[in-house]
Amino acid sequence: MRCTVPLIPLIAVLAAEAIQGSEPALIPQPLAVTPVTGSPVALVEGLPVAVIGADAALADDLCARCAAELHVHLARAPSASDSGIVLRIDPALQASGAAWAAEEAYALTSGGRQITISARTPHGLFNGMQTLLQLIVRDTAGGFQVPALEVRDAPRFHWRGLMLDCGRHFFTVAEVCRFIDQMASYKFNTFHWHLTEDQGWRIEVPGYPKLTSVGAWRAESPRMGEAGKGDGVPYGGFYTQEDIRTVVQHASARFITVIPELEMPGHSSAAIASYPELGNFDIPGWTTPVVATRFGVNRHTLAPREETFHMIAAVFDAVLPLFPGAYVHIGGDESPITEWHASPFAQQVMQEHHLADEHQLQSWFIQRVEQLLTQRGKRLIGWDEIQEGGLSPTATMMVWRNWKWATAALAHGNDVVMSPTTHTYFDYSQGPHPDSPLFQTIGGNLPLEKVYTFEPIPEGTASERIMQVLGCQGQLWSEYIWSMPKLEYMAWPRACALAEVAWSAPAARAWPSFTQRLAGQAPLLERMGIDYRTNDGSPALPERSLALTPHAPASR
Ligand code: ACM
Repeated sequence: MRCTVPLIPLIAVLAAEAIQGSEPALIPQPLAVTPVTGSPVALVEGLPVAVIGADAALADDLCARCAAELHVHLARAPSASDSGIVLRIDPALQASGAAWAAEEAYALTSGGRQITISARTPHGLFNGMQTLLQLIVRDTAGGFQVPALEVRDAPRFHWRGLMLDCGRHFFTVAEVCRFIDQMASYKFNTFHWHLTEDQGWRIEVPGYPKLTSVGAWRAESPRMGEAGKGDGVPYGGFYTQEDIRTVVQHASARFITVIPELEMPGHSSAAIASYPELGNFDIPGWTTPVVATRFGVNRHTLAPREETFHMIAAVFDAVLPLFPGAYVHIGGDESPITEWHASPFAQQVMQEHHLADEHQLQSWFIQRVEQLLTQRGKRLIGWDEIQEGGLSPTATMMVWRNWKWATAALAHGNDVVMSPTTHTYFDYSQGPHPDSPLFQTIGGNLPLEKVYTFEPIPEGTASERIMQVLGCQGQLWSEYIWSMPKLEYMAWPRACALAEVAWSAPAARAWPSFTQRLAGQAPLLERMGIDYRTNDGSPALPERSLALTPHAPASR
């Protein structure tokens, strides 16, 4: 399956294609892009940028990006003039559709000496700024310009997410922030941060120090290219509360909501290794697990004891104030019932609560956790196993295994986020790549084109149920994503395709147009230094490709 390809940069080739392209290379495709008569706007040194009705930090952000990526220094201006860039809040901006879509809508006009972005909200202005940054092209004199045109735009879906697993491999705060910047460029608005796993608990919890002093460290990791064996190298890391604040603040400045995932009752070996009283210790012969050193589904689960719920409540109290978003993801996936089947205590709970089997016990467990979240003003979201044994009417479900779970949940009145393996698992293989274990993946086959064919509304969904599909999300499980360059290589450009699925109207989407616009994205990806996968499977930045190797383990 693997092929050997030379690691040559294709950016120049792709950029050359982009210049020949007829439509602006925007991803995601806006609702409407209309060329207008007029000359392109030259992006010259000192071009004024004014903000009207919103925080001037937006202009600072635009100036900083142009300085860093183009070496063009725009100038902040106190008021709008007839030349320069104006970011203007306009409560009367026409935007059809749901209230949340209008909140993110914007209009952009460019030509002559002025570029104007109008929106009802700062979030809309920020979206328009991302479009503007994508519209910047080189002029014939080697400078930069923005073509004369009008853009009218609003998103199709409310939840446009990417999930990063920081449990299997740890990404530093700077790396997580860098990934969030990349997401913002493509108008994603939800960062699902997978923070606890069998292989590592990654969030500091005051009052429970062992979750990070024990749970954040594993003795070794699976060996590269030979995952059944250990590499003998201790590995770990965690985020302090201050780190979490930094990331949440960074995301919020880019209008991205951070959804924390704290996994339960499965994928909890690291938590049980830290606090064995959380485990099903009444099973004869049960021994405390270690923080897992191999991948795959682990048999250890949290015990359904009052003490467990007490600790979950205390963990929620300690960490949920860090996350201003409405949702908390509690996992719920891949929780084997073997331990509950063997635990006399778990069996007693089932009897007391008239639960027919361990699946109903799982449902009971999740509903107890949902109560804890509701008491704290939060909403529960979980993977589609949360419907096994009965789905709480108020839970939101992330559909990953089978679309039938979406159909059932929608009929039941639940909201869903579509995250199926078939179209959104960016840890899956994506086609040919250089012949090296550095490019190993978990398997599967999800080429770019398949991502682009994704239609998040399940076939046959009744029209009155469509609004229950909040949106869609791409997954970056990190068993084989051990470094930032590898993350970028696996995410981009597949996440560009998903960004368009999540944002653009179905009628605005077409594969030939997308591939041409994607080629035109090369200068932007290059400016941002993203090590994306090129058409032939090689990484875009050969000098970074060597850094596809694992992180040096963080020190304790
Ligand atoms: C999952 O991929 N286990 C949600």
